[in-house]
Formats: sequence, C-alpha cells, structure tokens
Amino acid sequence: MKQPLQAVRGMMDILPGEVEKWRFVEETARTLFHRFGYREIRTPLLEATELFARSIGEATDIVEKEMYTFHDAKGRSLSLRPEATASIIRAFIQHQLHTTRDRKFFLIGPMFRYERPQKGRYRQFHQIDVEAFGIQDPMLDAELMFMAVQLLQTIGIKDVSLELNTLGCPDCRPSFRSVLQGYLKERIELLCPDCVRRIDRNPLRCFDCKVPQCKQALQDAPHIVDFVCNNCANHFELVKSYLDDLGVNYVLNPAMVRGLDYYVRTAFEIVTQHLGAQNAVGGGGRYDGLIKDLGGPDLPGIGFALGVERIMLLMGDLKSDADESSRVDVFMVLLGENARRKGFLIAQKLREAGLSVELDYESKSAKSQMRLADKLGAFVSVIIGDDELKQSIAQIRFMKEGSQRICELDDLVPELLAVVKRTK
Ligand code: HAM
Repeated sequence: MKQPLQAVRGMMDILPGEVEKWRFVEETARTLFHRFGYREIRTPLLEATELFARSIGEATDIVEKEMYTFHDAKGRSLSLRPEATASIIRAFIQHQLHTTRDRKFFLIGPMFRYERPQKGRYRQFHQIDVEAFGIQDPMLDAELMFMAVQLLQTIGIKDVSLELNTLGCPDCRPSFRSVLQGYLKERIELLCPDCVRRIDRNPLRCFDCKVPQCKQALQDAPHIVDFVCNNCANHFELVKSYLDDLGVNYVLNPAMVRGLDYYVRTAFEIVTQHLGAQNAVGGGGRYDGLIKDLGGPDLPGIGFALGVERIMLLMGDLKSDADESSRVDVFMVLLGENARRKGFLIAQKLREAGLSVELDYESKSAKSQMRLADKLGAFVSVIIGDDELKQSIAQIRFMKEGSQRICELDDLVPELLAVVKRTK
C-alpha cells in the first residue's frame, strides 16, 4: 500500500466544523473593526526578504532563524511573510495610500515562522492584524488596545490580561541600551551563548530569553521605563489615563520588550494563563519612524496582531451558532430515474431561493437516502417517486418529528421557504 502523505509539520488543516468557528471569529473582527474605521487589506504571502530584514530587524529571532526563505528562478531572495505589519506598510507606500482617505487597515490571514511546533505555536498560523498610520495621539494607542480587548470579549474570551510598557524612542533608547549593556557585561558568565551575542547586537532581546539562568541574571536589570525622555514619558502617561477612562484594565510589565525591533514608545501584549508557554494571545505597539525607514512618508504608525489559533484554543468548545449555519435545510429523496431528473432541477430552484439543499447523486435505496438525510442533519426531506411524479406532488417529511405532509410540486419552493424560515 502507498504511504499516505501528511501535512507539513507545524501546519494544520482547518476542517469543516472548525471552519465555522474561524469564520465566526473573523466576521466578529470585521464587524467590530468597521465600527472603528478600519478597512480590510490583503497582501501577498511572499515578499522580498529585505522587507522583513529592514523592518522586523536583522538581529531578531524571526529574521535570524524563523523565516521561510528561498530564491526564485532569477535568484531573488523571497520570504513567506512571518507577520503582516511590514507588508501592509509596503503596500501603503507602494500605492501612495497616504494621499487617500485610507489610514486604518486590518488583515486576516496566514503567517509563517519556522519555530518548534507545540501547543499554540505553529509554523503556519493566522493573525488578525490591525494597523493605523499617521496618528500620533496617545488616544489612538488606548483605543487600539480597547478594541483588541473588546474583540476577545465579544468572542467570549474574558480571562486575559493586558500588559503594557513603553520602549522609548531613538532619542532616549541609546542611553538605556548602554546602561543595559553594562549590566549584562557584568553578568556575562551567567548568560547563555545567544544572550552573550545579543549584548552587542540587540541587548533588549535578553529580556525575552527563556533560559532560566538568563532569566535570573536579568531579574535586577534596569528597565527602560526609568530612562525614557520627557516626550515618551508624557505619551505613556496619557496612554494610561485614556485606558483608565475607557475602563480597560492593564498591568505594567517593565520587562516586556516584544520580539520585533520596530517598536517605539507603546508596547503591549495580551496574555493568558491558559495556554502554557505560549501565553501571548496578541501583541503590538507603536512604530513611529518605520514607514519612513521603509522609504515612505514620515508618518507614525501603531498596530497589533492576535493569533487566531490561540484564540481557537481559548474558545475551546464554546458554543457559537456557527454549526447552525452549515445545516442542510432540505434533503431530496428521489426514487427512480424520472424523479431524479425532476428533483435535480427542483433542487437548483430551491438553492436559488436561498435554501441549502442536498441530494444523493447515486440513486441509492430510499432507506439509504433517508439515512444520509439524517446524517446531514437535514430539517426536512422532500420525497419524490414515480407515484408522486404522476400526481405532480411531493412528500415533505419533517425529520425530527417524523411527520409527513403532501405538497404540490408547483408550490414546493414557497412552501419549503415558509417552513424552513419558521424554524430559523
Ligand atoms: P507577534 O507578537 O510576533 O507580533 O505576533 C502576534 C501574535 O501572533 C502572538 O501574540 C501570537 O498570538 C501569534 N503568533 C505568533 N507566532 C505564532 C506561532 N508560531 N504560532 C501561533 N501563533 C503565533 C507581530 O506579529 C506584530 N506584527 C504585531 C503588530 C502589528 N505590531 C504592530 N502591528
């Protein structure tokens, strides 16, 4: 026997039954974002590798070791997108969207990172990503976090906590960086080889190291919040006060640095206790300066992304009405060749009228057709055999009750529309 093929490690199929739950989450996001003025954007899965290197940062885990990169026939280096922010900025610049009314965007789609797969961590995963360009005001920072939390709440996920930090700006971060480098150098013998390398390349990354000894070495490390300039401090104070006004609970986490290099000032993560090691449901922050660095206008930017697989894990068996939407309204039980031909056409008419209709294409026995109707959870069956055809009628069988009634074939569409609607 031939060996069946498997999906690529860390990449999952989303099967019917689960898809409904995904669509519920996606549609809830779309509706909510629309209210806040965000418009949907879709970008290619592949981009020039340079785009991610220049935005996420050369010395990040994502760019150093997690990208799916290959060369095309012309030798150009391309990568599957590991996140959406860089691609959306690229599209914003390329299409000169700053000259249009569009400045708030969202994107829902797959991302790719070559990480070690485990619960909540995959190699293909999906993000609900939101970005807003050209708005400097801290009111937006607070509103964005409010919106992220509100989305999770609407979906039914309540047990999450919003962690907040400021990462300073190019004016104040360098002085903090050298203080931190000094601190790390004093403890160099305690650090893992990766962190030793990070001291010069990207010392802030050490805060994210999972090695217990490094964690311990960083316990008394200085925090950037104590080193930020007045402008950054004021911004941070306002963000917090707007969050207070909005009634959004948050926890200050001065050791949170995020895994991507483009952030300035506001950084946040939404974390949970229920996902083990992969505790971040989402994260984001400000990246003023990045749009200009990527060749665009000098506009500030801020955004966040939520991980859809992690949302799904948190939703668990939470009941949505999603299953209902895949229910079959009508199953056609067609007996004999003439009934099959007639029923086949009636099925299309019923579908045109908006009902979901299934039939057995293989002229099986009445019993096995009824069994299939049951299996599909059909609300009613329409039974047409030679006798019924002769009299231009059909039997409508209510599957749950087991009761049956006769209907003229000509009245079938309005009659079924009425019975099905009555139950919806
Ligand atoms: P991130 O923190 O790298 O940020 O990812 C955001 C979320 O994506 C994470 O909190 C997590 O829920 C999910 N995620 C990340 N990696 C994986 C994985 N391997 N498997 C499953 N889920 C994962 C960003 O990507 C930024 N672009 C967010 C942003 C938008 N910042 C500003 N604008």
